[in-house]
Amino acid sequence: MNPFLDSYKYFVVGLCYQLKVNTILEIGLGHDAAAVDYILNNYKEENFHIYCIEPFLNKLALQNLSKYDNRKYTIFNGFSQDKRIYKELLKIDLVLIDGDHHYESVFNDIKICKETNILENNSIIIIHDTDSEQIERAILDAERILEFKYLIFPKCNIGIGRF
Ligand SMILES: C[S@@+](CC[C@H](N)C(=O)[O-])C[C@H]1O[C@@H](n2cnc3c(N)ncnc32)[C@H](O)[C@@H]1O
Repeated sequence: MNPFLDSYKYFVVGLCYQLKVNTILEIGLGHDAAAVDYILNNYKEENFHIYCIEPFLNKLALQNLSKYDNRKYTIFNGFSQDKRIYKELLKIDLVLIDGDHHYESVFNDIKICKETNILENNSIIIIHDTDSEQIERAILDAERILEFKYLIFPKCNIGIGRF
């Protein structure tokens, strides 16, 4: 296992403990739900709930999450651009953007977080794979156009932002 590629889930769990996160939205559950599996296994906050959006739901992902109390997580089988999903969300402390990695999708994922009012004042957005040129460009445009405040960590593939 490459610890650099895999460090996203460790970073998220550390942050959950630091910030006492109650709710996460992950955009892009993945074929095996690796990050959500790790978070549910390692972040033991009583009232914690994680929401996930995934258009291409895989049996393996469902199987990996089936060992957890199903009141701890909700999976929306759809695309992150579908605004109806966000109406069902309570205030989210931490959004993880790790879905479609193209410029338009990442920009729209940041935009939809702002427009749908799911964020609290202190909510944070984590973006994965920021070493991609398209993702970097989407973030720069979100800073310029959406007033997204973003922290760039050089030589790192994870970034943190907020509105
Ligand atoms: C890199 S994987 C996610 C990995 C996962 N976050 C993890 O660390 O375990 C990206 C996922 O985003 C999904 N995806 C693609 N387009 C999407 C969209 N528009 N909305 C939500 N998810 C999307 C893909 O099907 C894929 O499963």
